[in-house]
Amino acid sequence: MATWQVSVLTIFPEMFPGPLGLSLAGKALEKGIWSLEVLDIRDFARDKHRSVDDTPFGGGAGMVMRPDVIDQALAAVETRPGPVVYLSPRGRLLDQALVRELAAQAGLKLLCGRYEGVDQRALEARNVSEVSVGDYVLSGGETAAQVLLDAVLRLRPGVMGNQESLAEESFERGLLEYPLYTRPADWNGRAVPEALLSGHHEKIRLWRQRQAEEITRQRRPDLWARYRGGKSED
Ligand SMILES: C[S@@+](CC[C@H](N)C(=O)[O-])C[C@H]1O[C@@H](n2cnc3c(N)ncnc32)[C@H](O)[C@@H]1O
Repeated sequence: MATWQVSVLTIFPEMFPGPLGLSLAGKALEKGIWSLEVLDIRDFARDKHRSVDDTPFGGGAGMVMRPDVIDQALAAVETRPGPVVYLSPRGRLLDQALVRELAAQAGLKLLCGRYEGVDQRALEARNVSEVSVGDYVLSGGETAAQVLLDAVLRLRPGVMGNQESLAEESFERGLLEYPLYTRPADWNGRAVPEALLSGHHEKIRLWRQRQAEEITRQRRPDLWARYRGGKSED
């Protein structure tokens, strides 16, 4: 199996692999199922202070990452496989469908912003797409890149031992997951639901299906409406 290549552009290279060096992603990294190349954007600065930012045209608070510096950093990974994704609150919202799309790419190049973000011209010149991890503002794209990679890597072949458990997870079938139970069967007077102890596969499947539907209906009317074919509930 060919190694799935990930390149990350950041001014904080020491933040990687971070949590991705542990657990499933970490083991897969060690085994060469995926590889991680981290580039320090400061290495592409042109002055002795290694500046990557400047004040915004038009005024306003904060600093903007310079197009010439970002462009040079992106040029350095030009031949690597896969699209360039800039982590940005303005981007397409990351959901399981987008995670699947990204996992199907030949590799990924992730640009982590800092300050107020990146000069628009560099994004346009290099055909960069934007992905957001949620409707809130982080201080930098590094943690967003880690969230994205964590979700995407789980879908890459060979990363998760049990591929079956992926199909059952929240969002995969358009529903949230049913409640989970393990031993002991009776804990502090709280019993495990009868159906799960029955050993009857069809009964268990039906119980889980009903629970997943009920939880989705209660907690996520948006997902529930989509699951029901876009019809609103009657
Ligand atoms: C302080 S934020 C900039 C916020 C920007 N001025 C705005 O209002 O949209 C700095 C960097 O963090 C990253 N970032 C912040 N929130 C994010 C989110 N929800 N999803 C992905 N990246 C995010 C981006 O790379 C961004 O360039």
